[in-house]
Amino acid sequence: MCYGTILAPQGGLAFANAAPGDQPWMNSRLAPGERAELAVRAMTLDEKLKLVYGYLGADMDYKKSTRPAESRLQSAGFIYGVPRLGIPHLWETDAGLGVASQAGPDTRPGTALPSGMNTAATWDLKLAQDGGAMIGAEARAFGFNVMLAGGVNLVREPRNGRNFEYGGEDPLLAGKIVGAQIRGIQSNRVISTLKHFALNDQESGRTTLDVKIGDQAARTSDLLALQIAAEEGNPGAVMCSYNRLNGVYACENSYLLTEVLKQDWGFKGWVMSDWGALHSTIPAANAGLDQQSGMPFDLADYFGPPLKEAVLNGWVPQARLDDMARRVLHAMFEHGVVDHPVKPAPETIDRKAHAAVSLKDAQEGMVLLKNAAGLLPLVKSARRIAVIGGYADKGVLAGGGSSLVSADGGNAVPGLGPKAWPGPITYYPSAPLKAIQRRVPSATVAFHDGGDVAAAARLARESDVVLVFANQWTAEAYDAPSLTLPDKQDELIAAVAAANPKTVVVLQTGGAVTMPWLSQVPAVLEAWYPGTSGGEAIASVLFGEINPSGHLPVTFPASESQLPRPVLDGYPEVQDRRFDVDYHEGAAVGYKWFDLKGQQALFPFGHGLSYSEFTLSGLAATVRDGILHASFTVKNVGKLAGKEVAQVYVAPLGVRWEAPKRLAGFQKVDVKPGASARGEVTVDPRLLATYDSASKTWQVAAGDYKVILAADAAGSQAVSQVVHLESAIYDVKGKRLR
Ligand code: BGC
Repeated sequence: MCYGTILAPQGGLAFANAAPGDQPWMNSRLAPGERAELAVRAMTLDEKLKLVYGYLGADMDYKKSTRPAESRLQSAGFIYGVPRLGIPHLWETDAGLGVASQAGPDTRPGTALPSGMNTAATWDLKLAQDGGAMIGAEARAFGFNVMLAGGVNLVREPRNGRNFEYGGEDPLLAGKIVGAQIRGIQSNRVISTLKHFALNDQESGRTTLDVKIGDQAARTSDLLALQIAAEEGNPGAVMCSYNRLNGVYACENSYLLTEVLKQDWGFKGWVMSDWGALHSTIPAANAGLDQQSGMPFDLADYFGPPLKEAVLNGWVPQARLDDMARRVLHAMFEHGVVDHPVKPAPETIDRKAHAAVSLKDAQEGMVLLKNAAGLLPLVKSARRIAVIGGYADKGVLAGGGSSLVSADGGNAVPGLGPKAWPGPITYYPSAPLKAIQRRVPSATVAFHDGGDVAAAARLARESDVVLVFANQWTAEAYDAPSLTLPDKQDELIAAVAAANPKTVVVLQTGGAVTMPWLSQVPAVLEAWYPGTSGGEAIASVLFGEINPSGHLPVTFPASESQLPRPVLDGYPEVQDRRFDVDYHEGAAVGYKWFDLKGQQALFPFGHGLSYSEFTLSGLAATVRDGILHASFTVKNVGKLAGKEVAQVYVAPLGVRWEAPKRLAGFQKVDVKPGASARGEVTVDPRLLATYDSASKTWQVAAGDYKVILAADAAGSQAVSQVVHLESAIYDVKGKRLR
């Protein structure tokens, strides 16, 4: 495959080992830490200061600022390197779904993966890594050596406008998936970030709100997702977030940046601020922030002349500035951006191969939520098919904001949504209608835009089968007002389903939505934001060329009243109003909250149907050297080859956790019809422990624990076994102490 290939400029590899005598840090045989140290020692004060000061790579009209000439057009960030010492500039691009561009006329058309939520719904680490490798290759080809990817804010708030960028509500699944993606990106000698650090779980008031949560709950939820992703992906950089945590802005929060990230987790790379998330010089630098990003987004040049003054006066120790520069350099050496300099060569992108990567991700992440009476897959003998709504004649929906990739062919439905960023609403020109028509050339496939509900219902009545497309656009900087589909689409679906019971609903949403019409509709396919090959992906699943195997990485609530915060704090947004968001649910996020409260979800976490059927059996849970292993059998009892996601949950019988059970492991298993496959998971002991803040250890309590093998968090297909665990203590990184 071409993605993952390193495009070294001519001679780029040649000089890597042959360090000139006066530039010993260019010797690639030395360890990154050693190289960084040598380079820092050779740098002047001003050179170090340059390395910790980032610009926006785009002009900003309202601030009358112009991007540095060396930056890439309409890019997120640029930092001057030190050419005299062989240290290249840093060219930064958003984000986790592909190479995005800042708004303006010169966007670079790239390949967009489906949403992060979709990738999490694949429960497939290899696919996540392949996707990362693909977008990382595009980043390199467009001349970027830093990708602002790795979004793993836990889906604590289902209305969060950015949930589509993230990895769902469970720390293990989200951490593993996003970590794999980071690994893929960095396989291109491109640094990836991990973001947004931390607890930035809603967009309303994101720059003013103050999250209240204790250390233990945070380390068992949001921080655990970030920690697992950091361990899996080894990102070169971390981006601190906009919000405050317990009174202190994340980007000047020494608990987050120095204690948790650098000391406890041993992170060696650098922390950059989110664009506009910095509010000080001395507090931020001394708390552990290493680089200001995206000036002029912040109110002031905090890490410009004021930092120099602070260092010269000793208010920020010289050693801290050295550490800041050393951390940037460490990541640059470790991840190959010094030894393999980037050079724009977009013509080398193998767009066909990249489209195939995006397509596969979308196909594997779509979740068949309901399929009564086997309405899906569609039979090719259907004569009259109605396709209604959702701009399915034009394209597929993309989430808005900094992660938006501009596709080849531009926006298929211009003029919708907010005029200013994060608008307009973008549709990638991959029309499901065309992909459907191609599959049934002799059928009549009629389209109605759904605007006139009565006319749409008439078309439904005259058709053999109806596909209603219903969409929810979500975007950075705004939360969804509720979990209700916008624009009266619920009414449209209900009317169409009343007219024709053979109605399939295809959803493109950022995350969970409510479905008041569910009992009327036999089949529902959740297609998330399916990326630049999305139309093809949807049609291939509808017609059964691909057997759906996505499983929900989030709970779909029956209503907002089931949430820890039925009313979203700070919505609608009031500018500059500081308010608290009390995470009273602690670490009981998503299905854990539903379990704790005994609530029934509309669709539980982990749910996902297939055109085949599976049974789970043969659970054998054993404890060896204190580590829990669970093996099991997945049998395909249906007629088609397919994949099941076997989920292993653990419920303590004696001790109390934040909730009755936790996801402890999972495996996606591919099984032929009639065949069985054996799977096995090994459980990270931290997932069986309680975090003790005072000693900074994970403590497993002696006792009995129920190991549950199931097809979702509500216990479908569940089989269980009780195991006994002895007490054990693990350090903050999960290393056994006692
Ligand atoms: C977002 C980041 C993004 C940055 C640069 C911010 O608004 O929160 O995720 O990387 O902008 O575009």
